[in-house]
Amino acid sequence: MDFLQQHSLKKLNTFGLDCKAAYFVCVKSVADLRYAINKNNKQHPIFILGGGSNILLTQQIIPNLVIQNGIKGIEIVEETSDYAVVAVGGGENWHQFVLWCVRKGLGGVENLSLIPGTVGASPIQNIGAYGVELKDVFLKLHAVELSSGNVEEFLLADCQFGYRDSIFKQALKGKFLISKVFFQLSKQHNINISYGAISDELAKKNIIKPSIKAVSDAVIAIRQSKLPDPAQLGNAGSFFKNPEISIAHFDQLKLQFPNIISFPISEEKVKVPAGWLIEQCGWKGKRIGNTGAYEKQALVLVNYGNATGQEIWALAIQIAESVKEKFDIIITPEVNVL
Ligand code: FAD
Ligand code: EPU
Repeated sequence: MDFLQQHSLKKLNTFGLDCKAAYFVCVKSVADLRYAINKNNKQHPIFILGGGSNILLTQQIIPNLVIQNGIKGIEIVEETSDYAVVAVGGGENWHQFVLWCVRKGLGGVENLSLIPGTVGASPIQNIGAYGVELKDVFLKLHAVELSSGNVEEFLLADCQFGYRDSIFKQALKGKFLISKVFFQLSKQHNINISYGAISDELAKKNIIKPSIKAVSDAVIAIRQSKLPDPAQLGNAGSFFKNPEISIAHFDQLKLQFPNIISFPISEEKVKVPAGWLIEQCGWKGKRIGNTGAYEKQALVLVNYGNATGQEIWALAIQIAESVKEKFDIIITPEVNVL
């Protein structure tokens, strides 16, 4: 285990921002992590890094000890004819884990194909896509408390999962490293193609009774058609969350903007796609210096090469202000800003 100083994070964040960690270490086990915690001896605040696909680094040097989660391992720990419980090291790559499940015939995560990042970060914002969220397959997790090095277990109810939210983004923010996640996956597949784009993609291929592999392939194709590949164009996926507004507010907006889109979420509220709001404000495909809103998905802010985190943050603020002015809606970042 190497303790590094002034370590470049450029290749470790998907925006490709040129930023350094004052102190850096990659841990491959809970024992490594405890060693690093003891060695640090509360000298420097700790920041946990996974795949760097949901962070915006706005400082040239992060004064923290950045601990990269490299804890690996995928293991079936319980199995019946209906389901399998799989324990996965937090440092495993999420998409590789999904592909492993598809190969093994274990269903439940296929709609979450091609989401970048690590398994350990997946509970942080309860990752979601195409009608499925992490909480739908989540059983429990193990996390190491950074102040003590103790391992604690969190069950589903303890995690307080919400839309792009969990206790690890709220009361316990920055306090734990998620070292292992346990998933309950099904052998009797419950195919979910409720999200329109998936059924359209399957229809294109004349697939009537899709397998989990067919759903995974369809999700991959949809994502590749509209989201930029971070290896080609720096980005962190959706920059903002989709805002929830009251039905009264929505009805009022509908009079002025008859094409406005919404998704029902409760008796009182609807969700409005932030991408639509941002596009209506004229940002889609617009470039300001080295940054801009992606041409095929306005919710995705991109780095055209040499942008700084400050520039991207300045653009995000401008975008949020224009949405507030036009629609009286506050959009908040999904990305973790440092
Ligand atoms: P990082 O970016 O490294 O970290 C994110 C946050 O989690 C930080 O606050 C970090 O401190 C904390 N953290 C990371 N690992 C741990 C750990 N083990 N223990 C404790 N804290 C930790 N997200 C979706 O939900 N749905 C999508 O469809 C989606 N699509 C995306 C598409 C693209 C092209 C990109 C670039 C991103 C997308 N995202 C999506 C966002 C991102 O992939 C997820 O949020 C992912 O879970 C982040 O994982 P990461 O390992 O890269 O986390
Ligand atoms: N839209 C526009 N203009 C745009 C972008 C979108 O009008 O520039 C419209 C679309 O036409 C569609 C609606 O907005 O009617 C929703 O768009 P899309 O299906 O692309 O999904 P999204 O709401 O923009 C969310 C998640 C994504 C997730 C997809 C698929 C959030 C913040 N984002 O995007 O997650 O992959 O749904 O489920 O909830 C992420 O979190 O990083 C992420 C990429």
